[in-house]
Amino acid sequence: MSKADAALHVLINGRRIGGLQPDKTGALRFSYDGDWLAAGRHPLSLSMPVERRDHGTEQTAAFFWGLLPDNAQILEGIARRSERGGPCSPNSLARMLAKVGMDCAGAVQVVREEDLIEAVEGGEEVVLRDAQIAEALRRLAIHPAPQRMVNREGQFSLAGAQPKLAYRKTASGWAEPSGRIPTTHIFKPANPRFDGLVETEHVCMAAASRLGLQVAHSEIRYFEDVSVIVVERYDRIEGRRIHQEDMCQAAGIRPGRKYETDGGPGIDGILTLLAASSSPQEDHRRFVDALILNWLLLGTDAHAKNYSLLITDRQIRLAPLYDIASYYPFMGDHVPKLAMRIGRRRQQDHIRRQNWLQHGFKTDYLDERMHEMIAQLPDALADAIRDCNAHGVRHPALAITLAKTGDFCKWAAAHYNLGLIGKDFPP
Ligand SMILES: Nc1ncnc2c1ncn2[C@@H]1O[C@H](COP(=O)(O)OP(=O)(O)OP(=O)(O)O)[C@@H](O)[C@H]1O
Ligand SMILES: [Mg+2]
Repeated sequence: MSKADAALHVLINGRRIGGLQPDKTGALRFSYDGDWLAAGRHPLSLSMPVERRDHGTEQTAAFFWGLLPDNAQILEGIARRSERGGPCSPNSLARMLAKVGMDCAGAVQVVREEDLIEAVEGGEEVVLRDAQIAEALRRLAIHPAPQRMVNREGQFSLAGAQPKLAYRKTASGWAEPSGRIPTTHIFKPANPRFDGLVETEHVCMAAASRLGLQVAHSEIRYFEDVSVIVVERYDRIEGRRIHQEDMCQAAGIRPGRKYETDGGPGIDGILTLLAASSSPQEDHRRFVDALILNWLLLGTDAHAKNYSLLITDRQIRLAPLYDIASYYPFMGDHVPKLAMRIGRRRQQDHIRRQNWLQHGFKTDYLDERMHEMIAQLPDALADAIRDCNAHGVRHPALAITLAKTGDFCKWAAAHYNLGLIGKDFPP
């Protein structure tokens, strides 16, 4: 691939904001266009502030790899496909983005010169029958890289380890969009390794919403015999893309280090990023709520790519919550650790009030929300499960989630205020 081929346009809502160019070693660098900077527009990422035009290869890699799936099998599947430049190495950031960068998380599109007109002006919606969606979802279980059913050239990219599809809701049904037309919903099918995960994720998000947390709206749908969690994208409003980035992108950390134990942002790192929020106190509080929720639910996968910032010219805010799921139904005898340390602890039942306070949270707010959520979460979950059942959604994992959350909330009510548990556990 020549240097010119590797150059990519970076667009926000159809307007070019800058470009990606390989340096002498072939590594990509992002530079803003002068007119985006002159217009006083928002940054692509907190890690690439608009005070500087050119950004280094590491920041560039962290943000742009962060747009792609973080599962080697999915990346390999995308790399093998022929569209947009032919098969490539899954290690080639430019060529991977050229294939799937037309519709990403947030408002950004990353496209080759020859795809520019399509990205800005082109695009169609191809409505699918339920049977086609079922086939696409079944195919994902064998080949986890997403494949379009009709327009192979219309592609999307989303981070994460789970295989997923993204469609657009139209008056005529679910459609595969292309070009400037964004997807509006994320489809994550049942995962054979974690039977009941999609139902569990849905009730956890619904329970969070019942507790007053701002969370993406989801539902369980069946396409023939395939169950899927359908999550409404909060980064699309009335057909427009709204920009967002996740906390790894904001911190300039590559997706391979999304877990704190691998060097990813932990609670303090995210609190530092939230200082850039237009309502930092409110977003700190929303983040505390999310941490308490994940502690009580044993949401072990709440790493830094499962928190995002919405970024517009007007404001920067913590995005609604997404990808919240209890691990209780899947854990066996061994209770896995949380993705982020609370104080210095990741083991759910080693965590006490003192550990929480090490992050400098406001004591009154922490205690109040802790007690409210301990008291209210079991009922919120029960109501969410009842609502699911009324819509024909049932799974044994839901009763396990409810029972174990109830047990842990009782345990937390009794232990949260107790002192630290012995000198084996440094604070
Ligand atoms: N409702 C939503 N609106 C907008 N963007 C979303 C929404 N839900 C998820 N995303 C984006 O899509 C990405 C992948 O979604 P999600 O976290 O649900 O996938 P996953 O594969 O289950 O992730 P993980 O690897 O954490 O298990 C997120 O990191 C986020 O950038
Ligand atoms: Mg995720």
